Amino acid sequence: MPVSVKILGAKDYADSFDEREAFALDVLSGLSAARKSIPSKYFYDRHGSELFRRITRLPEYYLTGCELEILESRWERIAACVAGQPFNLVELGPGLSRKTMLFLERFRESGLDFQYVPIDISASSMDGLVDSVDARFPDLHTQGLVGDYFHGLKWLNHRYRRRNLVLFLGSSIGNFTREESCFFLRSAWKCLNHNDLMLIGFDLKKDIDVLLRAYNDSLGLTSRFNLNLLERINRELEGRFDVAKFRHFGTYDVFSSSMESYLVSQERQSVFIGQIGRSFAFEAWEPIHTEHSCKYSISDIEWFARQSGFKVQEHLFDSCRFFTDSIWSVDKAESVRPGAEGEAVAQPLGSERRL
Ligand code: AVJ
Repeated sequence: MPVSVKILGAKDYADSFDEREAFALDVLSGLSAARKSIPSKYFYDRHGSELFRRITRLPEYYLTGCELEILESRWERIAACVAGQPFNLVELGPGLSRKTMLFLERFRESGLDFQYVPIDISASSMDGLVDSVDARFPDLHTQGLVGDYFHGLKWLNHRYRRRNLVLFLGSSIGNFTREESCFFLRSAWKCLNHNDLMLIGFDLKKDIDVLLRAYNDSLGLTSRFNLNLLERINRELEGRFDVAKFRHFGTYDVFSSSMESYLVSQERQSVFIGQIGRSFAFEAWEPIHTEHSCKYSISDIEWFARQSGFKVQEHLFDSCRFFTDSIWSVDKAESVRPGAEGEAVAQPLGSERRL
């Protein structure tokens, strides 16, 4: 029998530890905890992404309209920050949105020299995105990267010595806890060069009724979006959830200033999940936490920038001041980070520059 040896690389490992297995493990640990939870990143399968696309078209879900207004009215300010030299327009977690198309269209029209680099963990959504960008902008150089955001940024930096403008739109950052946001921003900082730019969307603190309506829309799309998590478990993990026995609950936590979404079991029940090989017990009215969507003040945003080694260039607002796209530049010149208003500084920034 012929014998062959195959040296396993990171890629083989990534293939065998597939998305479904990671989903099963996250569901297992999330539903085994005393306070049950499922990570919100699992909302976005094909059904969930389509429901989210419909949510972004609801007037009650003001976030998308506000950010579109900002980009439409202020794109020249953003263009001015990168004009004059070739650059990479990088987008983290792109979703083939009207916002992306607007950027590409305006930047192309104004003759800026750039390539578009979307980075996403999902190969299937990247294929669709790159195809439609290519169909719409045949002369634009588009380089889709499938993988972890930070691996993508590192690879990009290694491959092209160009300035980067990194888009992280939609207040996606709001799904991170404070600690996760610090980790995310600092990791991005490490992958980027001095004077590279980030444009980050932040949903601002506002009247609580506006928030509650945005996450409890009258068509019930947000409810379906949330319940789709259980349907996804049924589809992909042989779950036996009776979705009618759960309800969506979206509420505002005033201390953490975040919209929190839950799926609440309306009766005592036990649900078997085939791929996990066990049942999970729910008390009547027991919640599963499914999403954290943080709302920010300007001082929160400036705190995050300072903590992670960025300089705030400008905050761009919509006319209601519901949302901001904040432009930050990477600052690697500052060798010692000044303690922010006497707050404890965990680690001097200067030491990171060697990494
Ligand atoms: C895509 C994460 C920005 O948190 O507002 C929409 C997702 N959740 N309705 C958000 C979402 C409920 C959305 N983000």
